[in-house]
Amino acid sequence: MEKPEATFSRQISSQYVNAYQLHVGHCISVIIVDFWLVFWLGVIGFLLCLVGIFVWLIWPIAIGAMYVPTEVAVARRMLELADIGEEDIVYDLGSGHGRIIIMAAQEFGANAVGIEADPIRLRLSRRAIQRQGLSQKVKLIQGNFFNQSLEAATVITVFQSQRVNQKLKSKFIEELQPRTRIVSNRYTFDGWKPLKIDKDLKVYLYCLGEC
Ligand SMILES: C[S@@+](CC[C@H](N)C(=O)[O-])C[C@H]1O[C@@H](n2cnc3c(N)ncnc32)[C@H](O)[C@@H]1O
Repeated sequence: MEKPEATFSRQISSQYVNAYQLHVGHCISVIIVDFWLVFWLGVIGFLLCLVGIFVWLIWPIAIGAMYVPTEVAVARRMLELADIGEEDIVYDLGSGHGRIIIMAAQEFGANAVGIEADPIRLRLSRRAIQRQGLSQKVKLIQGNFFNQSLEAATVITVFQSQRVNQKLKSKFIEELQPRTRIVSNRYTFDGWKPLKIDKDLKVYLYCLGEC
């Protein structure tokens, strides 16, 4: 016959074992639930990132053209064709990383304004402008250039698309001063006769009214 103390201690130890098993089971189920929670949060985060990148890439195309920088030689030719000087105020519509506005200020002494819808590119161009010490001469506007006033411009530079150029024509006629020069990289303005053309680099200079 087993002693009562032995029976008691066996009951206690089996209770401990049960409690331990319960605890381990609970821990495992918590780990499994946590794993799936983290997994699905990761999947959702990843999908949101993909959607963000997609919107970031597609959005400029919806309102204009996607980002492709003008080559340095073409940018310089655009500004030369427009005969930019210190008295000019150059507006780059969709200024991207700021190459044209920086060059207009640095090499031609003009004041320049860049209008850019993409906040990331705008921030990068702002840093570049600060690094070059051009903050007094080059200004940036974040937004859609169709919604911004262009009245102060004496020169417009644009690298968009044939469709966007067509849409810009009525805005130019409404807002720009007579004799404002418009230089377009690659795309023309249907129905308008260019004043000068660089056929090799595909740069077109237009002038509003008599020039
Ligand atoms: C082809 S890139 C030209 C960049 C720069 N002007 C250059 O020549 O290097 C077109 C730029 O226009 C911007 N953009 C497109 N539509 C726009 C709009 N409606 N308003 C403001 N920026 C726009 C895009 O985000 C992109 O940076």
